[in-house]
Amino acid sequence: MTMRTYSRADLVGPLPGLHFIDGRWVGSGDGRTFETIDPSTEAVLASVARGGVREMDVAVNAAHREQHGDWRNFSPAQRGQLIFKLADLIEAEAERFALFETLDVGKPVKESLGDLRGVCATLRYNAGAADKMEGSTIPLGRDFVDFTMLEPVGVTAHIVPWNYPLGMVARSVAPALAAGCTVVIKPAEQSPLTALAFAELCQRAGFPDGVVNVVAGFGEDAGAALVSHPLVRGITFTGSVETGRKIYSGAAQGLKPVVLELGGKNPMIVMEDADLERAAFDALDGAFGNSGQVCSSSSRLLLHRSIQEEFLARLAERAAKLTVGKGLDNCDLGPLVSSEQYAKVRSYIDAGGKSGAKLRLGGGRPRGLDVGYFVEPTIFEGVDPTSALAREEIFGPVAVALSFGTDAEALAIANGLGFGLVAGVYSRDISRALTFARDLEAGSVWINGWFIGGVQAPTGGIKESGVGRERGLPGIRNYLNIKNIGIRL
Ligand code: NAI
Ligand code: MG
Repeated sequence: MTMRTYSRADLVGPLPGLHFIDGRWVGSGDGRTFETIDPSTEAVLASVARGGVREMDVAVNAAHREQHGDWRNFSPAQRGQLIFKLADLIEAEAERFALFETLDVGKPVKESLGDLRGVCATLRYNAGAADKMEGSTIPLGRDFVDFTMLEPVGVTAHIVPWNYPLGMVARSVAPALAAGCTVVIKPAEQSPLTALAFAELCQRAGFPDGVVNVVAGFGEDAGAALVSHPLVRGITFTGSVETGRKIYSGAAQGLKPVVLELGGKNPMIVMEDADLERAAFDALDGAFGNSGQVCSSSSRLLLHRSIQEEFLARLAERAAKLTVGKGLDNCDLGPLVSSEQYAKVRSYIDAGGKSGAKLRLGGGRPRGLDVGYFVEPTIFEGVDPTSALAREEIFGPVAVALSFGTDAEALAIANGLGFGLVAGVYSRDISRALTFARDLEAGSVWINGWFIGGVQAPTGGIKESGVGRERGLPGIRNYLNIKNIGIRL
């Protein structure tokens, strides 16, 4: 199937460049801005207001006022209706949003459009659940009535990364709104455009001004100011382990609850009795989808020695056919998001070559792409489990294959890292697969499939991969406090 290609001329309207605070577009008090780059061309895409302590304070105060103002009077069903309306508005403008996303982070338009469908599904799931979050009655005996009420936690902070810019906004903001909270969003400095456009659509959908605010800027100033603001009552963050630790420390000072999703190094275990065709197909998407910039990517391929060669031959044959190019050209893979990310991925590939691992495919720059942060789909095999390639999150289109002989060996390698986000196992023996599911240290285990789930299924990590769960009904409970009411008769 040939995909349609796009150009800048397909963009309708201007690129957003200001904060959206209390229902208005505003610049920073000191006039500071930063540039967002098109990673396909390395050219400046837009100049965007750079927020700091002052802008965050205005945004959080607007949210706080609204938390105790008009917004409180919307019933859960009415909140749901607004979120449904928002989904309709975004769906109607999916192409505009997708082009923003593609220009900002480089992903192919077809992927951006897929992400937008996910955003709408997330909004609608949470919209429908808004009036279905129930408390309980507690049996204290004949002389008492005791029940719980669920209340919004208050102003919530949403610090999001750049790999799925609007998808990550929707994942935490939709349940927060369903729960009746107000929100302040700090998009990643690499990808502010869709979050800003989203905030304006919230206003058009009918959310009162101040319920949804977006302050663009960098982590160390805008992000840190949001975490430490005394009126913020809950923090949700997706990003690196290192930044997650900082946010957790900051939250501890204010005794604020957090949800942290911090990435992984996810083992895909392929047993000798697996459906190799399916496993190789899934590994292609699992390792190279979104150019590998996915927290739940299949970033460690653990292959039974007896099928390793056949599996890698199938994977390499497919990966060699992947097309790489500008997001607007709708190839299979776009560039990496930034020069920093490019340098990081390049350094892993270069170190991998020296570590004794065998380069099976790629490793260089795709031919004909001299500007832009492009990396060829790359496969390393025979990787030493103690090397950086095998232990660290690369976040690029680099498949890393290790081998094992026994189930116990596979499990030991899989569980041998600090991460615990996702693990997967491919086997036709369901009892064997379920034994792995029991023993794997991960927040999610996938059997005979990869990227299984959706907005209904809770996701999150154990160990250093994070704290708390998002999606599903647990995703909404993050934004509700339980109040217990006890009555003596
Ligand atoms: P990061 O964790 O530093 O950035 C994520 C978000 O946190 C951005 O909005 C950033 O502005 C904000 N932030 C940074 N420092 C902050 C602070 N001190 N206080 C408050 N907010 C702060 O991730 P970065 O530097 O963009 O990427 C580094 C690596 O992190 C990647 O190579 C990848 O391995 C991993 N990563 C994982 C993601 C995931 O989905 N779990 C998403 C993005 C990155
Ligand atoms: Mg960073």
